Amino acid sequence: MLYHSKPIISVAPMMNCTDRHDRYFLRLIAPNVQLYTEMITAQAIVHGDTKYLLDFDPKEKYVALQLGGSDPKQLAYAAKLGEEFGYNEINLNVGCPSPRVSAGRFGACLMLEPELVADCINSMHAKVSVPVTVKCRIGVDEQDSQESLYQFIHLIADAGCNTVIVHARKAWLAGLSPKQNRDIPPLRYEVVYQLKKDFSALTIIINGGIKTITNIDTHLSHIDGVMIGRAVYSNPYFLAEIQAYYFSPDKILSRFEVIKKLLPYAREQLAKGVRLHTVTRHILGLFQGQRGAAAWRRYLSQHAHRLGADESVIEQALLLVKEASL
Ligand SMILES: Cc1cc2nc3c(=O)[nH]c(=O)nc-3n(C[C@H](O)[C@H](O)[C@H](O)COP(=O)(O)O)c2cc1C
Repeated sequence: MLYHSKPIISVAPMMNCTDRHDRYFLRLIAPNVQLYTEMITAQAIVHGDTKYLLDFDPKEKYVALQLGGSDPKQLAYAAKLGEEFGYNEINLNVGCPSPRVSAGRFGACLMLEPELVADCINSMHAKVSVPVTVKCRIGVDEQDSQESLYQFIHLIADAGCNTVIVHARKAWLAGLSPKQNRDIPPLRYEVVYQLKKDFSALTIIINGGIKTITNIDTHLSHIDGVMIGRAVYSNPYFLAEIQAYYFSPDKILSRFEVIKKLLPYAREQLAKGVRLHTVTRHILGLFQGQRGAAAWRRYLSQHAHRLGADESVIEQALLLVKEASL
């Protein structure tokens, strides 16, 4: 397919997955995709160690900061700090169905309070010059009509949100776990396609169940961009396919080259007191589908968490892959 401009392709925010080490690794594979932090609550940023929470390596750029919260003042403060730290987008999480998150009055339950979300957008938008975006579902519980979704989108767009990322399934807040809420409610891509038709001035990015280049191409014929979560986390080198197909076919690093570039980073992190496992847990899926993938995964899983483990563990695991592919 030919595009007039580069499509927007992003890796979804994923708690316990898309931390700074994962993003550094993914960025080596795909220079052009937009990355997101895990959700960080505005409250944690207001009361916690901001450097620990927000600092990231400039090589990860561009990274969006995903915030959780529903207090307009706290969110505005957190958004401003995020901008100062160098994030190129501030995203509000209106899609997480976890009961803990709902108890804190943020995440997907906020789709039931569109005016409050609009207030939050308004106050963040007033404080920052980077885009303030929203990641939401197509509905929540019994509130899943087109009318309620459109009312929500109207209000947040009026408040200054020009980009909406829509996970194309509703969330059931009572009865389903967060994991079930990522699989059980059916995907309804047609709802998001229609949303784009009816709000053509907004940038609409679709999310949920996207696994192949063919899937991406289909979505891009209806919509401005795609966001991919689990398919990238479990098989990070899928990003190389994406990078080659949509952005720069001639500048793709091989899996071995990616690791070669990750080694100095791992060394640097170890010198800062970071445990090796904290970095390597994100790279287990790199050789998925290749000879030696199991040996790679096994060796890293068994050795990287040991006290004193250093980057030679990665080199050793790489040797096993090389031996397996001979
Ligand atoms: C382990 C895990 C953690 C997640 N954490 C977040 C999060 O912090 N914020 C968020 O908006 N969505 C979160 N999600 C949802 C994803 O961003 C995405 O919407 C969902 O996985 C559907 O996309 P996919 O089918 O491409 O994985 C998480 C998903 C997973 C699997």
